[in-house]
Amino acid sequence: MTNKIGILGIGSYLPEKVLSNIDLELMVDTSDEWIKERTGISYRRIAEKDVSTSDLAYEASKEALKMANLKPEDIDLIIGATVTPDMLFPSTACLVQKKLNAFNAACFDLSAGCTGFIYALICAHEFVKSGMYKNVLVFGAETLSRIVDWEDRNTCVLFGDGAGACVVGRVNEGGVISKILGADGTKSDLLYLPAGGSREPASFETVKGKKHFIRMNGREVFKFAVSIIEEMVIKMSNQSGCQIEKIDYFVPHQANIRIIDSAFKRLRVPFDKVIVNLDKYGNMSAASIPVALDEAVRTGKIKKGDKIMLLGFGAGLTWGGVLIEWGV
Ligand code: ACO
Repeated sequence: MTNKIGILGIGSYLPEKVLSNIDLELMVDTSDEWIKERTGISYRRIAEKDVSTSDLAYEASKEALKMANLKPEDIDLIIGATVTPDMLFPSTACLVQKKLNAFNAACFDLSAGCTGFIYALICAHEFVKSGMYKNVLVFGAETLSRIVDWEDRNTCVLFGDGAGACVVGRVNEGGVISKILGADGTKSDLLYLPAGGSREPASFETVKGKKHFIRMNGREVFKFAVSIIEEMVIKMSNQSGCQIEKIDYFVPHQANIRIIDSAFKRLRVPFDKVIVNLDKYGNMSAASIPVALDEAVRTGKIKKGDKIMLLGFGAGLTWGGVLIEWGV
C-alpha cells in the first residue's frame, strides 16, 4: 500500500443566479468602480430561496466522487466545513450523507471560518494516515447570502454562495507534502456573527439589532490576511524543503484582490502563479479554495505533477495551508 495521501477527485458547484456590482448599486450606496477597485469583485452567485448549504455541497460532492471514480458507499467519513450550516444541528455533513446515500460514512462538521476547507482537508489526511478510514469526502460549502446584511455596504459587496468538495485517500502519485494549521482566539471579535448561539439566542431584540448578520473589522482582517499568507508560504517552504520558486501554483482564500496582490508581491511570486477567481464569485468562505482549485484543474491550468500551495485564513482567527503535488 502506498503511503502517499492526496486528493482522488475534486468538484464544485455554483448556484446559477448572478448578482453584479451594478445590481448592488441599486441596493446600497456603492458603485461598480469602488467595489472593483477596493476588492476586485465584479459578480457573486446567490442560492435560490429553497436551496441551502447541503444542496450546494451535495452537487459538488457528486462531481468529486465522479472524478475519484468512487461510489457513495465507498466513502467512510464526510467532513463538512461551513459557517452557514443548514441548521445548528444535525451537521450539514449528515444531511449531505442522506442526499448522497453514503450510508457507510461517519459524519461531522467543523467550524474554522474561511479556513474550514483546509482544516477539513488536514483532518481527512490524518484519518487516512492513521488507517482508520480509506476514503474521506471533504466539502467547503456556504450560503453566505443568508447571513449578510443586504443594507450594509461594508459587507454585502464581499460575499457569495457556492461549494467545493474533494475525496481524500491513498494515491500512487503526488500527495500532501506539507501542512500547517493555526488559530488566535484573542482576535475572535474581528469577524463574527453575534447571535443565534448560546450567548445570544434568537429573540426579537437580536433580530431588531441585526445580530444574525456578519460583523467584520475589515481593515484588521486585511492586515492579518496579508501577513499570515506570507508567513505560511515561508514556513511550509522551509518545512518541506521546497523552494518558493519551485511551487507551480498558489491557491489563496479569495477574500480581496488587494490582499492577494500585497502578499504575493512581498513574496516576489509572479502573479500568473496565483489562482484567482474572486472577480466572478466574491468571498465564499470555506468554499473559495476548493472552487478555485477545481476550476484550475478542470480548465487544465493545474496538471499532474504540479506543486500547489493552498492558503486559508478567516474567522477565529484561523489559518491553514497545504502543499500538495497534484496527482489526478
Ligand atoms: N461602497 C462604497 N464605499 C464603501 C463601501 C462600498 N461597498 N464599503 C465601504 N465603503 C466606504 C467606507 O464607508 C469608508 O468611508 P469613510 O471613509 O467615509 O468612512 C471608505 O469606503 C473606506 O472604508 P475602509 O473600510 O477603509 O475600506 P477598505 O479599503 O479597507 O476596504 C474592505 C474595505 C474591502 C472590507 C477591506 O478592508 C477588506 O477586504 N478587508 C478584508 C475583509 C475580508 O477579507 N473579510 C473576510 C475574511 S474571510 C472570513 O472568514 C469571512
